[in-house]
Amino acid sequence: MNTKVTIADLYKLKHQNRKIVAVSCYDYTTAKLVSQTDVQMILVGDSAAQIVLGFDSTLPAKMDFMVTITAAVRRGAPNIFLVADMPFLSYQLSDVEAIRNAGRFVAESGAQMVKIEATQAHLNIIKSVSDAGIAVMAHIGILPQNIGKIGRFKAVATTADMAMELITLAEQMIECGAQSLLLEGTATEIAEIITKRCEVPVISCGSGPGCDGQILVINDILGLTQEPSPKFVKSYGNLNQNTIDALDAYSKEVSTGQFPNAEHSYHMKPGEIEHLHALLKKKS
Ligand code: KIV
Repeated sequence: MNTKVTIADLYKLKHQNRKIVAVSCYDYTTAKLVSQTDVQMILVGDSAAQIVLGFDSTLPAKMDFMVTITAAVRRGAPNIFLVADMPFLSYQLSDVEAIRNAGRFVAESGAQMVKIEATQAHLNIIKSVSDAGIAVMAHIGILPQNIGKIGRFKAVATTADMAMELITLAEQMIECGAQSLLLEGTATEIAEIITKRCEVPVISCGSGPGCDGQILVINDILGLTQEPSPKFVKSYGNLNQNTIDALDAYSKEVSTGQFPNAEHSYHMKPGEIEHLHALLKKKS
């Protein structure tokens, strides 16, 4: 990306019926690689708690950690549209806390939008953060931060009544100022209806092909993840095996003394080693 992607570009893509390509990514080095592709959006997801830190849910992600890694991603990808994920308890306590924490992502990390996992109970928070001048993506459908209440994840809006509720919720989010929606684990048919009814860009995370864009976790795309993945995940690489192969090759060369060779070692200036030996001799 040579010019910075803005919210206006995302709206334009929607209206031109062109897909938005998004990834969840968590570090400078990987973000720099993403910035050399046509991907338009990076979400620094609270899934970092699982992917980077090895927890079994997103709940342990903390504000300071998220701000730090979001800023790292921004340094790696200065021009990609950057969305920061508001972690558990960073917005639920009060509107003021929500605005303060969302503001940190903008001011300290260079994020252009914050994502908030939202139910009806969070409409006021979406409005407050948006009214403070911060672009909000409302994440609806499966809400990983609610794992304690639901026990395990299953597809959302698979009946007409549930679908009506989700469509209403999507519309309420937009009325409150959400400028994008992320639909997670929603029945394909409903995701398509919401996408058609809503003016804002709608990103699918396991919600079928009918949305304005798609998001997957970069480690899944690259084939780095070893844990079982949900049905909607597709890998486009095998970095898992490539990484193991590279480490095995490194280990073999170290064990056999092949690494490091002269090419990968520093040397004294010409004549200096003889000089050093003479100095050592004198010293002893
Ligand atoms: O945390 C995350 O990475 C996400 C995406 C998978 C949508 O919320």
